[in-house]
Amino acid sequence: MNTAKSALIIGASRGLGLGLVRELLERGWDVTATVRDAAHPGDLAGLPLRIESLLLDDIHSQDRLAETLAGAHYDLVFINAGIYGPAHQSAIDATLAEVGQLFMVNAVAPLRLAERLLPRLDGEQGVLAFMTSELGSVTGNESGGMALYRASKAALNSLTRSFVAELGETGITVLNLHPGWVRTDMGGEAAPLDVPTSVKGLADQVESHAGRGGQFYLDYQGTTIDW
Ligand SMILES: NC(=O)c1ccc[n+]([C@@H]2O[C@H](COP(=O)([O-])OP(=O)(O)OC[C@H]3O[C@@H](n4cnc5c(N)ncnc54)[C@H](OP(=O)(O)O)[C@@H]3O)[C@@H](O)[C@H]2O)c1
Repeated sequence: MNTAKSALIIGASRGLGLGLVRELLERGWDVTATVRDAAHPGDLAGLPLRIESLLLDDIHSQDRLAETLAGAHYDLVFINAGIYGPAHQSAIDATLAEVGQLFMVNAVAPLRLAERLLPRLDGEQGVLAFMTSELGSVTGNESGGMALYRASKAALNSLTRSFVAELGETGITVLNLHPGWVRTDMGGEAAPLDVPTSVKGLADQVESHAGRGGQFYLDYQGTTIDW
């Protein structure tokens, strides 16, 4: 009997998603990962995993993925994909298209996908993880900066709290995870953390919180962040 844990990683073409795939494979997990087009898996090619297609902000693409994965069973669903939004980061200057795309990809689409994938999660030990940011903390925002990105992650946090409040009786654990400031295309070269360090910490949080139930807003080292 295969007793390996199973994970579905959403948005694994590069950066933290790709790192998470590598880390979980190293830990012996069975991994399914999504990229925009499974025919072009990029750096996932050659790794021992199942690859599916998903454009996160496309409802039809979400429906197709949910259909393809019907019958699958996961211990972890990790919705990682996200974007930074327009370089100006200004609510004053933002266009409807810029705000629409940013809030759809970072906040609304992850919740829609979580709803669709919930039946695939183990009801007792399952972990549903959202990649948020400490910048999504409303309490913690004393410096400003990156205003639109911050707001999109705050919206994600708020939507996940509504989702959890409406979940009812379940053993599923929901994690809102901050990976640290990490050297990726989004994080940039000045970031202090490398991907392997961040994803090790994130995987540790997933493993140590499985089965606890409830919702936690944590960084990659397990430190609680105020909402
Ligand atoms: N790096 C940091 O310091 C940091 C800090 C806090 C939070 N985060 C969060 O961590 C997550 C991953 O960030 P990262 O640093 O790894 O960023 P990244 O290197 O820019 O990678 C972003 C990932 O999201 C995918 N993606 C974006 N929009 C998508 C869409 N509409 N549909 C499907 N996939 C989509 C990208 O796929 P493509 O390659 O196809 O574009 C890529 O795999 C994000 O949610 C980000 O907000 C990062």
